[in-house]
Amino acid sequence: MSLSRRDFLRLVGLGGLAAGCSLVGRGLPAPLSGVVGALTPTTRREEPTTASDAATRTLPPGDPDLEVRLTAVPDEVGILPGPPTRVWRYRGEVVRGPQDALQTLPDSYLGPIFHVRKGWRVRVHFSHELPQESIVHWHGLHVPHEDDGHPRFVIRAGETYLYDFVVMDRAGTYWYHPHPHGLTGPQVYHGLAGLFLVHDEEEEALGLPGGPYDLPVVLQDRVFDGNNQLVYGGNMMTQMMGFLGNRLLVNGRADTTLSVATRPYRLRILNGSNARIYKLAWQDGAPLTVIGTEGGLLERPVQKPYITLGPAQRVDLWVDFRDLPLGTRRILMNLPHAAPGGDASFPVLTAVVEQQADGGEPLPERLSTIEPYRADDAVNAGQPRTFVLSMTPGLGWTLNGRTFEMTATADDEVVRLGDLEVWSFLNAAGGMGRGGMGMGMGGGMGMGMALPHPMHVHGLQFQILRRKLTPQAQVLWETLGEGFVNEGWHDTVLVLPGEQVDILLRFTDFEGLYLYHCHNLEHEDMGMMRNYRVVA
Ligand code: C2O
Ligand code: CU
Ligand code: CU
Repeated sequence: MSLSRRDFLRLVGLGGLAAGCSLVGRGLPAPLSGVVGALTPTTRREEPTTASDAATRTLPPGDPDLEVRLTAVPDEVGILPGPPTRVWRYRGEVVRGPQDALQTLPDSYLGPIFHVRKGWRVRVHFSHELPQESIVHWHGLHVPHEDDGHPRFVIRAGETYLYDFVVMDRAGTYWYHPHPHGLTGPQVYHGLAGLFLVHDEEEEALGLPGGPYDLPVVLQDRVFDGNNQLVYGGNMMTQMMGFLGNRLLVNGRADTTLSVATRPYRLRILNGSNARIYKLAWQDGAPLTVIGTEGGLLERPVQKPYITLGPAQRVDLWVDFRDLPLGTRRILMNLPHAAPGGDASFPVLTAVVEQQADGGEPLPERLSTIEPYRADDAVNAGQPRTFVLSMTPGLGWTLNGRTFEMTATADDEVVRLGDLEVWSFLNAAGGMGRGGMGMGMGGGMGMGMALPHPMHVHGLQFQILRRKLTPQAQVLWETLGEGFVNEGWHDTVLVLPGEQVDILLRFTDFEGLYLYHCHNLEHEDMGMMRNYRVVA
């Protein structure tokens, strides 16, 4: 690889070294003498524990297909009428590869949408100008642990973290967001998030709606003060429940109408909220047609009366506006449900049919082939690895009674490379679970603290094997259960209080330290997150 010193400085986003920025990033260790040589370092550490450790990883030779400079910066955006809102946002710039690989959403704080192809090697130089540490996590992607954005790799303002990975995942709707421990909630809340869309040949052969007919729908709830500034609540109760806003933003905007043409569309819905659970349904009662989940297309489309979407979950919908008269409005609603924040019904998106259009292929009956994992093939088939989700006195929300430790794993958090396992998430409401940890907060909180937890596993996509209900789960199940899309590949699954969800997951390709956690960001920040280690 040949890279002049000037190119290099441009790539890492440093105007000049005189600014005294320290430089941390894989392959780019300070000092800068011998820069070119430093891009292919020879040291390899088995277990990098900091960003500068990770910087010593050996990268394969050759050039990436896409090279991006991604920066997190404070900024202002006009969201509501009146004064602009101070936000934090990702800015992206393509420094190598197709310029249209990054799509900037107009009038939005959301980060650029990445459009990458399966098989591409992607290199990202991440730096930030925030007053606190940060790191970027590529949510849903199967990447080496140095590229996973673990909180041990946080960098300070002015430093650079270098990601360099091959996109191994199927076509689908992935996303990226910060992952510093204890600060993920506020950083996402203030605007740091973006979509990462993977395209592949299998999907393209289907002729699904593309280009302007393939639309992002990122759902986030916020609270604004009288001056249009974002309010992030910090009291104990908010932390325990998770942050709920009182105003919905779609793609970072308050205007939630969509002008559409008389043809089919693909809507890629991401629940990018910190804690809110959505129950999505068409106002006219028509069923929703689901074509994809977190890990890409389903085998075949599935019809649902409504969709339950926990934080971090995605669902791809196929929506047909053909044969609708111009002027028709179709409203996607959030219906009331029994989980926190579910007391109100409100419109999520209003599609107004405004243009006549021809074309648009019919929806294929078969979308993809998903080889089902067989429970019998799991190395622990008869003995699932159980994780009890519960409140532990003095710690808050915990996993098996444990809170987050930066680089530690317990004995029951080590898995073997190549193994297929059953993991069992047990939401210990109403006295279920181990040693009476179920309702540990006691008195004041009562049943109110039996909450759903959206459980997320890093580094892979899993399959949902089964859901088991106890009587405690009944109330929530009745209002949310039918909306679960259990088919296909997932990286996040919502576990209701009193419910046990068993998943099948295989640890392939990469050894190292990964996370699993509740994606209610306030729970995550409070420590409802643990490492698991993949060993050969
Ligand atoms: Cu979307 Cu560990 O995160
Ligand atoms: Cu993730
Ligand atoms: Cu949780």
